[in-house]
Amino acid sequence: MSAGAAEGGKATVLAPANIAFIKYWGALDLERVLPTNPSISMTLTRCASRTTVEWRARGEDEVWVRGGGELAPARGAFAAGVRRHLDVLRRATGAAGSFRVATENSFPAAAGMASSASGFAALTLAVVRALGLDLPTEELSSLARQSGSGSAARSVLGGYVEWPRGEGAEQAHAFPLAPAEHWDLRDVIAVVETGPKEVSSRDGHRRAATSPYFATRLALLPDRLAAVRQAIAGRDLEALGPTLEEEAIDLHLIAMSSRPPIFYWSPATVEVLAEVRQLRREGVGAWATMDAGANVHVVCEPAGEEAVAGRLAALPGVTQVLRDGVGPGPILDAEPLF
Ligand code: DP6
Repeated sequence: MSAGAAEGGKATVLAPANIAFIKYWGALDLERVLPTNPSISMTLTRCASRTTVEWRARGEDEVWVRGGGELAPARGAFAAGVRRHLDVLRRATGAAGSFRVATENSFPAAAGMASSASGFAALTLAVVRALGLDLPTEELSSLARQSGSGSAARSVLGGYVEWPRGEGAEQAHAFPLAPAEHWDLRDVIAVVETGPKEVSSRDGHRRAATSPYFATRLALLPDRLAAVRQAIAGRDLEALGPTLEEEAIDLHLIAMSSRPPIFYWSPATVEVLAEVRQLRREGVGAWATMDAGANVHVVCEPAGEEAVAGRLAALPGVTQVLRDGVGPGPILDAEPLF
């Protein structure tokens, strides 16, 4: 593989976050980001990262972020993560030179909302485009996950996506299960916490196998995966909902019983879960899932969205309600940040 554009190539990509119905939790090989179990997600639309990359002949990599106003230099772990991924991409593509990168998120970062999934997907796609390369989706998906955010492999694709268990290079990328237009599902997100989570997903993956319930979850997963694939194929929310909620609870059960334990939930998480159960008692088809954080994603069909959003917004512990839904995946020619 070698770069196909002259230095000076510039690209802006908007990549959405995704919400997993079956979670990636635990790795066969954390360094190579190979998951212990297959995961299945829905790619969102509005919760997204927008990244502009300019490829330059010389100079140092520059990383900028926009958090509302002007671009500012990125700092700390975030800047280090971007630089590491630029090195990964340089090695993989054989490109020399440096990159000027600017990025922004449309949603609270690092609060269990897969900001790294959308961020690494957008960065990967923007770098590859700035280099003038035209790579197959499989390769882009595989590249996106190589700096540690496994879920980034899924954000390169739109609609409903599966990322298989991590054995062998050919399985190291995600693949589409169904396009977005197959089934209009919504994700109403109850934001109860916007600060960074206390324990990274990476540490969570590392500790997962120390839970005495880890093996039980793995034993349950083949049936659960089959149920989710079938529910997506048949657009059957009554089948998908209970399975995705049960799966989210299991992730947190594993986290809470890991050694040392990890508690991602806040009191407001429990409050939202109770309200979702109440909505169901009232006949609204809505089911909850949480990633490695306190925020709750409530999956429903368009007919239930208004009721879900209104009720969640009225809860005292909910600071914001974001309305999102399944989408077609990354936009490759988004509005540049510089
Ligand atoms: C709970 O290692 O991909 O969201 O980089 O923090 O997004 P981030 O984590 P990653 O693990 C994802 C963990 C999860 C479940 C999932 O999205 O599959």
